[in-house]
Amino acid sequence: MVCLSEITHSYVENYIRSILPDQEGLLKEMEQYANDNHVPIVHKEVAALIKVLTKSVQAKKVLEVGMAIGYSSMIFIESMGKDGHITTIERDDKMYELALNYIEKAGIANQVKIIKEDALEVLKHLEGTYDLIFLDGAKGHYNEFLEDCLRLLKKGGIIISDNILFKGMVATDDLVTRRKRTIVNRMRDYLSYISHHPKLETSILPIGDGVAISYKK
Ligand SMILES: C[S@@+](CC[C@H](N)C(=O)[O-])C[C@H]1O[C@@H](n2cnc3c(N)ncnc32)[C@H](O)[C@@H]1O
Repeated sequence: MVCLSEITHSYVENYIRSILPDQEGLLKEMEQYANDNHVPIVHKEVAALIKVLTKSVQAKKVLEVGMAIGYSSMIFIESMGKDGHITTIERDDKMYELALNYIEKAGIANQVKIIKEDALEVLKHLEGTYDLIFLDGAKGHYNEFLEDCLRLLKKGGIIISDNILFKGMVATDDLVTRRKRTIVNRMRDYLSYISHHPKLETSILPIGDGVAISYKK
């Protein structure tokens, strides 16, 4: 019998995870911390996708919403190289302190700007242009982040939105719990919006917890 994870067949997910190389050093230590302390960080196959996309669009300026302990920020920096820079937003005090520590330990503090505030406020006033934007904050707010992200994203840039299938709930009512109904409805609106937006070309992938990639025309 084929066993299903919420997004795809478990055997497919397990196979992909087994074939991708494991992280080493500090990233491995961070994975262990995240695992032990239930901090949600990008899945292994999503980290691999981030690396490929960052290199493909030759991103040098990334904006991230939702830093947690800084794991994905570090993946972005590693992919961009020494002349890359990430601005990342995190509202949680504890996550901020942990991320700060890891970023210093990695010796990349000069390439990372952490803004410790709610992204809903920060994005309204943020200036500049970014090559790539990674949305990995509160799932119910992607709609509210989007207009500012579109303003901040350069033409030819991409937005990567993580967890868009939300444990499969976004794809079928059968999995939706009552408490998650609002978030699921908001995420469905978001996916419909970015899929039909005249300025975007969007692809939705059933990997990790679901990832959407949107290219700005
Ligand atoms: C899934 S975790 C981020 C994981 C990280 N991107 C990684 O893969 O290593 C989501 C984080 O977003 C933060 N967050 C959620 N909504 C936010 C908001 N509106 N503004 C700033 N941070 C937010 C949470 O505190 C949490 O640490």
